[in-house]
Amino acid sequence: MSPHEIAITPFDGQKPGTSGLRKKVMVFRQPGYLEAFVQSVFDTQADLRGGTLVLGGDGRFFNRQAIQVILRMAAANGIARALVGRAGILSTPAASAVIRRHGAQGGLVLSASHNPGGPDGDFGIKFNIGNGGPAPESVTEAIYRRTTQIERYRVFDHHDLDLDHVSLQHINGMAVEVIDPVDDYAALQETLFDFEAIRALIRRPDFRFRFDAMHAVTGPYAKRLLVEMLGAPADAVINAEPKEDFGGHHPDPNPAHAEALYRETVLEARLDFAAASDGDGDRNMILGRGIAVSPSDSLAVLAANATLVPGYAKGLAGVARSMPTSRAADAVAAGLGIASFETPTGWKFFGNLLDAGRITLCGEESYGTSSAHVREKDGLWAVLFWLNLLAVKPGETVASLLTTHWRRFGRHYYSRHDYEAVDAGIAAAALQRLRDALPSLPGNRIGGLVVTTADDFAYTDPIDQSISTGQGLRVVCGEQARVIARLSGTGTEGATVRLYFELFEADPARQRDDVQARIAPLVDFAEHMTGLRAASGRRGPDVIT
Ligand code: G1P
Ligand code: ZN
Repeated sequence: MSPHEIAITPFDGQKPGTSGLRKKVMVFRQPGYLEAFVQSVFDTQADLRGGTLVLGGDGRFFNRQAIQVILRMAAANGIARALVGRAGILSTPAASAVIRRHGAQGGLVLSASHNPGGPDGDFGIKFNIGNGGPAPESVTEAIYRRTTQIERYRVFDHHDLDLDHVSLQHINGMAVEVIDPVDDYAALQETLFDFEAIRALIRRPDFRFRFDAMHAVTGPYAKRLLVEMLGAPADAVINAEPKEDFGGHHPDPNPAHAEALYRETVLEARLDFAAASDGDGDRNMILGRGIAVSPSDSLAVLAANATLVPGYAKGLAGVARSMPTSRAADAVAAGLGIASFETPTGWKFFGNLLDAGRITLCGEESYGTSSAHVREKDGLWAVLFWLNLLAVKPGETVASLLTTHWRRFGRHYYSRHDYEAVDAGIAAAALQRLRDALPSLPGNRIGGLVVTTADDFAYTDPIDQSISTGQGLRVVCGEQARVIARLSGTGTEGATVRLYFELFEADPARQRDDVQARIAPLVDFAEHMTGLRAASGRRGPDVIT
């Protein structure tokens, strides 16, 4: 049997964004669209030939069909072995763990993360390299360039494989191993955390705890780890069946989209600990009785307490955060005397620092936290980390851990305001207004604060010296405050404008104020500079986190 070559013409706009290529399902279903992108990966990634490819996704609509297509193409492109999660399932951090554990040359992760699924929802595909992490910009650029020239793709005629049982099958010479999607991931977590201590915490009758898998990929992972391995009651994990349309919901773990869990835990104070994860399992939201942990604070608290957890007992090499993430982690790094790094938005920018051993923990304000154990953010890992801390700090609660942390390091009040699906021209013009004003801002006042620097963030990677420009506009008032504006690189409709606000408070007496009230002057400043609300006719942000 020899592979077919099917002629195609390039599709516009197959440029990977913050996290892979994300489009509406109907875009991906155009004949040849998925194939053009996948062939561009195979054409540019020579070491996949004769190597191992990991394949799986978050189970959303079109996941299974895409996997069958990619397997037929992989066989026709000389891949020797494909590892596929059973039922096509692999959470993003699990895919990273599988790539690393099995020494694969790369992986294709099928997900649009927290974006809604279903026939009218979103789909996505992301190439991860042999370190288990998202391809760096040099690789995504090469793939994109190839998509603009592609003239044919290679595929074998072959029936659909059975993905629902752990098995070994073949397409021509390529071995297809259908693997349990949880095994490697669960084994890895067991090496990091004190499962004995967590088990004792979870079994305490007075410890009320819940994990919301949001009808997305973490259901099977949470059931294995939290229920089977750690002894939580079965009903502690809710919405645990992955659904193709996530039950019609937006699988994004934040107060807006995990509203019921937030209400029950934070507003009604009925649970001691609650957490949720997103469509592909890489995000996490941590809540405690009467309090929500801002993701930026979560990174800082984990860093400050890391040595209490077996996997990090030897201490941290350093920490990194994306630029818009609050500087709470920097304060911890300074206190611990370890290095801290500020990278552009998107997990791919942490890869080099992790590979070089310069950092151990990293995180983003967008509910993403992780460590050197994989090269993706890892939702359940963060949940286990928090549980481990609570387990070894008897008498402490989520709230007390936070307030103690703020007393020691100061509090960084933080909020992100998203304006979704704004007309692309209006969004660009609003950001351009601010960009044009940047040089004149230093010395100006925002309320009582003085602007010290204002720039368009550019990053030089400390390991390979690659440069990434245009990574977000930032207005900085020394250590006191920051206002940041950037366009989302993951949206599929119009433009999403993200405004980020950070305000530092050293005085413990003023560390339990209302976040939105404290940042209000910064919010007014952003509107004054961008005119976004006025121009878009919006009264306020669509989502506040
Ligand atoms: C968003 C988040 C970013 C995260 C990415 C993928 O990207 O802001 O931190 O890495 O999703 O989960 P954005 O839409 O802002 O480009
Ligand atoms: Zn995600």
